[in-house]
Amino acid sequence: MHDLRPPAPNAAAAHPTGADQDGAHGEDLRVAGAKAAAIAAGHLAGLADRPVWQPVPAAERAWLSDQELPEAGRPLDELLEDARTHVLPHPMGNGHPRFFGWVNSPPNPAGVLVEPLAAALNPSCAGGDHAGPHLERAVVRWLAELAGFPHPPGGGLLTSGASMATVICLAGARQRAALADGWDAREDGLSGRPPMVMYVTEEGHSCLHKAAQLLGLGTRHVRIVPVDAAYRMNVSALRAMVTEDLAAGRRPFCVAGSAGTVNSGAVDPLGEIADVAAEHGLWFHVDGAYGALGILADGAAPHYAGLDRADSLALDPHKWLGVPVGCGCALLRDPGAARAAFSLVPSYLIDDNAGELGWFAEYGPEQTRPFRALKTWATMSHLGRSGIVGLVNHTAGLARRLAAMVEEAADFELLAPVTTSITAFRHRPHDGDGLDALNRALPDAVQARGNAFLTGTRLGGRDALRACFLHPDTTERDLTVLLDEIRLAAKTLRT
Ligand SMILES: Cc1ncc(COP(=O)(O)O)c(C=O)c1O
Repeated sequence: MHDLRPPAPNAAAAHPTGADQDGAHGEDLRVAGAKAAAIAAGHLAGLADRPVWQPVPAAERAWLSDQELPEAGRPLDELLEDARTHVLPHPMGNGHPRFFGWVNSPPNPAGVLVEPLAAALNPSCAGGDHAGPHLERAVVRWLAELAGFPHPPGGGLLTSGASMATVICLAGARQRAALADGWDAREDGLSGRPPMVMYVTEEGHSCLHKAAQLLGLGTRHVRIVPVDAAYRMNVSALRAMVTEDLAAGRRPFCVAGSAGTVNSGAVDPLGEIADVAAEHGLWFHVDGAYGALGILADGAAPHYAGLDRADSLALDPHKWLGVPVGCGCALLRDPGAARAAFSLVPSYLIDDNAGELGWFAEYGPEQTRPFRALKTWATMSHLGRSGIVGLVNHTAGLARRLAAMVEEAADFELLAPVTTSITAFRHRPHDGDGLDALNRALPDAVQARGNAFLTGTRLGGRDALRACFLHPDTTERDLTVLLDEIRLAAKTLRT
């Protein structure tokens, strides 16, 4: 007869991953976990007193990038020491209240707190009956409600960021247009069909172009619609371009507006774009990755009129909300459109208990999906609706205040109206030539000084500076520091 009892514990037996890993699931993890929490809290508490950013010294770069995989596993404590001494001292800078670059927020502490718990559970949120997918349903609904976007059951999913959300939304648009024309983009491919044309402005984010390329549409069929003086889509031009494409036998299928461009924070005239989309049966996508939540700022709602008429909205919780990177969200008026574009359920994934909505994995390209909902839920719950509105109002107010300071200063020039929390401007210490070169060089020079961090762009054919406000701890005093830092950096460039 077989003995079915488990074998007696044998203290001397080696753990298959190495003796040092033996306690990694028990007391060692508890002790190291407490230490990791202390390191993280210390890092966040000390950020404001350190330079915003500094280049990684050559020796540290080499330590980070050239190291070999150790033969024997290393103890947890040693790894934490390495992270403390070699990783945390070299941040990107976005935790600092004077980081104004690109669109990168500091992490919300509640989001930081729960990251280890998501890793401890380590589910795949492809679908199934466990906490992850259920919590994802709630946070996706919360995000839609905040942005004022319709939310049918199943009308969205979390993604790595807005780039992936855009791929999902545009794939839905492409398949809807193909099916309406009596063919199937997934089955048939695009070859031999009239080119499918999409419309974006020159201020539209590069992720729209990448998505179009990835979906086989071809950059040539992404029409660049001109903008008005406020960098918003010129809708008359859009209408004319659609008419021209139709006359030429092409297949206009999608127009993508922006609710908060990355350059200046402009919000396109969404209602007017929705009208054109309705007239021509176009899918109306809105890139609200950064700016959709700007709708919550006092007095901002009229700028967003028409957002609720879109077919899809990309919105990044890892931007204005401060959910730790990466967390984007694709919201869809008709969830079935994403499912039609992606659902592929092999026999080993059939789940008779999945209910009407099926699995999240049917709505996008990712199969194994991380537990993004936990950090999103924690961040949003910690802030609450009023905290989110307060954050948006505070940061939008800073952008308006900087714009006023720029307009008051003789040596600065405002380049765009402020609609969200981005101020686009440039330094103009003189009226002569060389302003483009100066403003192109300034971001690096300011960053190198370590007291503030901003990035540049080109706007209306000119080199520009842009400051994006997302940090709850940034103050008006920091705006004065920023302008002074730009002046000081400009002097170092002249000498
Ligand atoms: C307006 C806008 N759209 C899209 C994106 C792309 O988002 P992600 O980087 O999350 O993929 C960004 C990123 O900064 C953005 O600012």
